[in-house]
Amino acid sequence: MAAVVAGVGAWLPPRVVTNDELSSYLDTSDQWIRSRTGIGARHRADPGVSTSDLATEAGTLALKSAGGSSAGNRSAGDSEVDAVIVATTTPDRMCPATAPEVATRLGLTGVAAYDVAAVCTGFLYGLASAAGLIATGTARRVLLIGAETYSTIIDPKDRGTAVIFADGAGAVVLRAGETTEPGAIGPIDLGSDGGLSDLIQIPAGGARQRASGTAAPAEDHYFQMRGRDVYRHAVERTTASAQAALTRAGWQVDEVDRFVPHQANDRISAAVAERLGLPSERVLSNIAHVGNTSAASIPLLLAHATLDGRLRTGHRVVLAAFGGGLTWGATTLTWPAVTACAEVGKPAGVGSATATAHAQIGAPTEPLSASRPAA
Ligand code: UT7
Repeated sequence: MAAVVAGVGAWLPPRVVTNDELSSYLDTSDQWIRSRTGIGARHRADPGVSTSDLATEAGTLALKSAGGSSAGNRSAGDSEVDAVIVATTTPDRMCPATAPEVATRLGLTGVAAYDVAAVCTGFLYGLASAAGLIATGTARRVLLIGAETYSTIIDPKDRGTAVIFADGAGAVVLRAGETTEPGAIGPIDLGSDGGLSDLIQIPAGGARQRASGTAAPAEDHYFQMRGRDVYRHAVERTTASAQAALTRAGWQVDEVDRFVPHQANDRISAAVAERLGLPSERVLSNIAHVGNTSAASIPLLLAHATLDGRLRTGHRVVLAAFGGGLTWGATTLTWPAVTACAEVGKPAGVGSATATAHAQIGAPTEPLSASRPAA
């Protein structure tokens, strides 16, 4: 059985942090951030809001998109999904995983639930895991969520990361289906190089630090990235992985309608597209409004581009990502007829009330809270 996309959802916290706001306390500028990354603003969760809060919201929206009932109206016996996977770099705790709590908050107590840790490639690794669950008959419907609260691990004084990384969550519902159906996830290319694990890391907080028997300096609890080195590997690995996925799918580059790269940097996306031989108008991006949301970035972009019409039913799509580990991955699919649901708001149960704000993402005239079918 193939894993087939049945729904897609995206959720962003309401607080928007502009480049100008960052420039008020960091040695940076709107001009530098835009020209080097393509980022104009990003969303950040308020204090007290965590990854499971964002994941629950995105999961609710993906289930709604897939035609499911609202959260809280299900029990394990009649659940729409048999497994919940949360891809994240920012789990609520070291232990246990975030996914079981998210599943329970979605009214899915009893289903399989686990996290995937592949940093910015987490959504691709999660797709492979979900596809495996479906192929083996372990699950028939999987909710895969990419969720991040990078604001909790970013050093606010580090201009090399603080201007880039952001918070958000996106999710897809995958159901068992045929490999020839629209929405069927194609062959997935995955890879890693642990010899370069120090290019992106949070040095402290894990077993390595405890085994050394010494207290880690405060900065070692923050996310650290050697950006220039990562950039070079990102372009090479993402290109190779996308080419491998295309080859395994039997697709020619000129058959690709949309390239959906992990939103690390518009320059990386452009360089990869150029190497693949893809025209720039086929490259999707929402980094200008959301920044780099790591494992959440691809499902966020899928939802936003479906809502604003840049991604339409029947488009032949390549997804590709690169991240810490190092890790990379890519796959193909034909975009199905789905109704994407995306919101900007305050998580239910956090703060005084659930509220839906409006923001401009992708197409400036698109009301984000609206859900409409793909054209
Ligand atoms: O999400 C998956 C994994 N992550 C990535 O794929 C990210 C990959 N890396 C990148 O996207 C880019 O390397 C960055 C956006 C992080 C940095 O862009 P860059 O063009 O590679 O800049 P750089 O690190 O080579 O730095 C160029 C200059 C340096 O100054 P000097 O040495 O030329 O005087 C930096 O100190 O820009 C300086 N700089 C900044 N200036 C203003 C670095 N960060 C900033 C900043 N504002 N925020």
